[in-house]
Amino acid sequence: MLDCMKLFITEKMATRTVDIRSDTVTKPTESMRVAMANADVDDDVLGRDPSCFRLENEVAKIMGKEAGLFVPSGTMGNLISVLVHCDIRGSEVILGDNSHIHIYELGGIATIGGVHPRTVRNNEDGTMDVDLIEAAIRDPKAELAYPTTRLICLENSHGNTGGRCLSVEYIERVGEVAKKHGLKLHIDGARIFNASVALGVPTDKLVRAADSVSVCLSKGLGAPVGSVIVGSNSFITKARRLRKTLGGGMRQVGVLCAAALVALQENVGKLESDHKNARFFADGLNKIKGLKVDISSVETNMVFIEIEESSGTTAAKICKDLEDYGILLLPIGSSRLRVVFHHQISNSDVKYALSCFQQAVSGGLNENGN
Ligand SMILES: Cc1ncc(COP(=O)(O)O)c(C=O)c1O
Repeated sequence: MLDCMKLFITEKMATRTVDIRSDTVTKPTESMRVAMANADVDDDVLGRDPSCFRLENEVAKIMGKEAGLFVPSGTMGNLISVLVHCDIRGSEVILGDNSHIHIYELGGIATIGGVHPRTVRNNEDGTMDVDLIEAAIRDPKAELAYPTTRLICLENSHGNTGGRCLSVEYIERVGEVAKKHGLKLHIDGARIFNASVALGVPTDKLVRAADSVSVCLSKGLGAPVGSVIVGSNSFITKARRLRKTLGGGMRQVGVLCAAALVALQENVGKLESDHKNARFFADGLNKIKGLKVDISSVETNMVFIEIEESSGTTAAKICKDLEDYGILLLPIGSSRLRVVFHHQISNSDVKYALSCFQQAVSGGLNENGN
């Protein structure tokens, strides 16, 4: 029995919720709510919202870029960025076959922007082999058959491989290839702060080679809404027009930006603790017969769990059993689960979740929780 089982037994069932479905599920903190209530606002479509202006400048500064633009979501941030770089329909973008843009964004770059995706296989660490990236670039002098490559996209940290981090050295190598062929480089940095903290590298250094970055404030940083895309002044001027075209121009948006500014000030420093919780949780799960986590893949705030056949249970069953006890998580397929840590999960929550996992896998939970 794990030590933390004791905690489980004394816990009043279902009075506690441990929501580890994603880092997008956080609730705005008290200081965010106060900041939202008191936000200094004006019409941002007219370019006059002071809170929005502060947030955009702050994120641009942190990322070492000239300018920033607040957008409602990471999906819109990526879409706008790809479309600005690929402003001629029929352009081609090279991106990972397991990337968020390719898999989870409804193919918007193609349906809305007329941009053709050329996928390169994502390795288990989230990288694409640099020689494969280079080989995927179309030869502009070749016969009249091919789209024109204009952009390479990377993702850091890489969600579908479990929050793995791309190193500065890797990103700079891809940047050199992009430069050599006259291409732009975009980084989907939905969780760039997680990568920066895990690697111990400042964000501006990590994205130095990129022409644009989409930074989510509503993932690990815990803001309720929004992302900021950053890049050169001319990139942001074009991005602003596209955002309006897509219906993403918002009026008194400072209400949202004020919460995001608090998230930047208060929550970047908490990411290291989320990463520690993820590692602690992964170690604990590996002590439970029937579950397996590849510890080397736990670099940031995500844990992917394999359910071994011998356990006689399934991802769906574990999720259902745990839900009765307030543990919320997501299955990925029939024998895999995903857990994501965030600042509203304490180490005591992690221990409680571990004890519930132990019960759910080795014996099943009864209504008394044991
Ligand atoms: C890596 C990555 N990029 C982009 C997005 C899209 O962000 P949003 O849900 O705000 O559209 C997500 C969302 O989870 C993500 O994980």
